[in-house]
Order: sequence, then C-alpha cells, then structure tokens
Amino acid sequence: MAEARGAIDQAVELILASRNVIAMTGAGMSVESGIPPFRGEGGLWTQFGGPDANQYQRFLADPDAFWARELQQANEPYIVELRKTISVAAPNPGHVALASLESEGVLTTVVTQNIDGLHQAAGSKSVIEMHGSRHKMRCVDCGDRSPREAMFLQVRPAPCVRCGGRVKYDSVLFGEPIPRSVLEEARAATDRADCVLVVGTSATVRPAGGLPRIAKSNGARLIEVNPDSTAITETCDVVLRGRAAAILPELVAEIGLVRPGHTPRQR
Ligand code: APR
Repeated sequence: MAEARGAIDQAVELILASRNVIAMTGAGMSVESGIPPFRGEGGLWTQFGGPDANQYQRFLADPDAFWARELQQANEPYIVELRKTISVAAPNPGHVALASLESEGVLTTVVTQNIDGLHQAAGSKSVIEMHGSRHKMRCVDCGDRSPREAMFLQVRPAPCVRCGGRVKYDSVLFGEPIPRSVLEEARAATDRADCVLVVGTSATVRPAGGLPRIAKSNGARLIEVNPDSTAITETCDVVLRGRAAAILPELVAEIGLVRPGHTPRQR
C-alpha cells in the first residue's frame, strides 16, 4: 500500500507541476460503466474473436451490400453485445473525475478511443473522439456528420444531404483511416501536452496507441492508470496499478488537497 501511496503522490506532483495535462483513454475507462473492453479478460475480441479486418473495404466496395447485412441484424455477435451495453451505460466515477479535473483547470483535453460518449455525459467539454461517436453518422465522401437516429437502424441511411455521398456510422471501422481533422486535433493536443494520463488502454492500436509515445518523445511525462501492464507501461514515469473508477477519484481528492491554499493531508 505504501508503494501505491507513493505512486499517487508522485502522480499528483507531476500533474501539478505541469502546464498542459491531457488524458488519453481507452476501453478500460468504460469497463466500470458495464462496457466490456476489447482485449484481455472479458474482452469482446477475446470472447467473440476480432472483427472482419476488411470491414471498411467492404463498405466502400459495396455500400448497398454492407447496409443490407447491417439491417438484417446479422451482425457479428460482438456488435450486438457492445451495442446493448453501450445503450444502457452511464458515466462512472472515473469519467466524473476527469470532468472535474477539466472544470478545475487541471486537465485541458481528453483524447479518447471510445465511441460511447461517456466523457461528455460526465461533463467533459474538450473531448477528441479518435474512433468516432456512436451518436453520429458520417459521409465518407465529404466528411459531413449527422445525428445517428438509433443504435440499431431500421432503414439504411439516405445519401449525404450535403454531397449525395456514402453515409456510414461515424465510428471508425477496421481498416478505415481516422478522419484527417480528428487526427490533426489529437496530434496537436498531444504536442501541446507536457503530462499525459494514459487510462484504460492497451496502447496497441495505431495511430491512437502511438500518441503517448509521441508525447514522451516530446518530453512529456506519462502516468498510466490500468489494472494490468501494457505495451506503454515501460515508457511511463508513474504507474497507478488499478481501476480507473477507483484511481482517478483518488487522484482528484489528493490534488484537491495539495493545490495552493490547501494543507497536505496528514498521513
Ligand atoms: N480501469 C482501467 N483500465 C482497465 C480497466 C479498468 N477498470 N479494466 C480493463 N482495463 C484495461 C485493460 O487492462 C487494457 O489494458 O483497459 C485496456 C483495454 O484495452 P483494449 O481492450 O485493447 O481497449 P483499447 O486500448 O481502447 O483498444 C483500442 O482497439 O479494437 C479497437 O476500436 C477499438 O478503440 C478500440 C481500440
């Protein structure tokens, strides 16, 4: 426990000494909201096997066939499971903690790989959704976004109102490039950061998984929040081994205690 205490204190010190703190979050952030991760224990890919790596190519080649398959609800079992859990999920104390760090002026931005919208639901204002949003549709020809009417669409989306192009879910399919504007925004936030909270991600999927390493190469300090070690653990300055919904509120509490004007908690 002493080690864990030391790590929390180190993380608080790092955060309060930094000018621009951001969070980079993955599926582990939403596990305590009931949404399974993708890899590791209980992961969707672990349970159902990974998805078709050519999803995006299939969509581009034949959008009609892609939507016909979608609407038959003949989706991969992982999609049904993911959509069911996402539809009922609510922010957990980890999401709320990051939103409070933002409102306190400690955190500037969340760069997330999650499509569940739980950071915004918890009150975070500056959120970059690298893999899109489950609340939106997107035209692949002009990039126009529109609201997604339902989790399970009953009819295929109409052609893009702006350009007549091909419309799909905003969330990024396997093999699909991250929209340039999103990538540029995430990269700019990474380049401005001098401290990154890496929360609940295996850091295995590029380009998102590479951003913490880019921050590190820019001289930023990395703090990992994860119950398990990951591909980025060795690169982190501080490792907080535990669940996001437990660690992040503890971090917020400690920061609240030691910020200027507060006397440190007597231990
Ligand atoms: N708190 C914090 N981290 C957790 C928790 C928790 N309660 N539970 C699990 N984790 C960690 C796991 O140890 C793992 O390191 O969350 C991480 C989840 O890793 P992945 O399932 O690989 O999720 P992620 O890194 O977000 O995947 C990236 O891959 O399949 C694509 O598009 C998908 O956005 C996803 C991307």
